[in-house]
Amino acid sequence: MIQLLRRLGFLFAILLALGCGTLLLLRNTHPQWFAPLWQKVAGLGLPLSGQLSLVNAKTGAPFTSANLQGGWSLVYFGYTFCPDVCSADLTKAVQAIAMMETEAPGLTPIFITVDPVRDTPAVMARYVALFSPRLLGLTGSVTAIAEAERMFRVYASKQTLPNGGGAYLMNHSTFFYLVNPAGRVTALLSPELTAPALAKALSRVLAHG
Ligand code: NI
Repeated sequence: MIQLLRRLGFLFAILLALGCGTLLLLRNTHPQWFAPLWQKVAGLGLPLSGQLSLVNAKTGAPFTSANLQGGWSLVYFGYTFCPDVCSADLTKAVQAIAMMETEAPGLTPIFITVDPVRDTPAVMARYVALFSPRLLGLTGSVTAIAEAERMFRVYASKQTLPNGGGAYLMNHSTFFYLVNPAGRVTALLSPELTAPALAKALSRVLAHG
């Protein structure tokens, strides 16, 4: 009996693998079959319930949920003291957007800090300028940043370093959020993607969104 169940389980696993493989293959050879489905999902998007009350680091102007509407944006959360990941990911985002400039001239890359205490508007403005004049740096009060993290379902937590002196790192999630002109998140893109792959993924959503 157990033998039979094992065999059935094995068969099921093979069928599942074949099924998934076929779907993946079809997605590449007949993308038009999947476009309507993708369009449905991307067009709908996840609403960002709540109210952003951040500050544009460069201009000092308020940045609210309304500022996310009317154009596409690619949002990334991190902090300027990040030893490596944030700057690598932001570089990737800026490169990807440059690669698809003709398709998305209005796509704005946005960097929101998870470390508002150290990332003052001045610090943020200096940092984002290192990547691209188009990269928008946003900061705000501790409460406002916590609210932004909640809205995007971002994970961020302080990790105090053992060497004393109050030094700390921030552990944080590192997804790219593509926000459509209606202010809804239409795609969550992995930071593992290379810049060309990210550009391709962005183009795909924008073409259907
Ligand atoms: Ni980081």
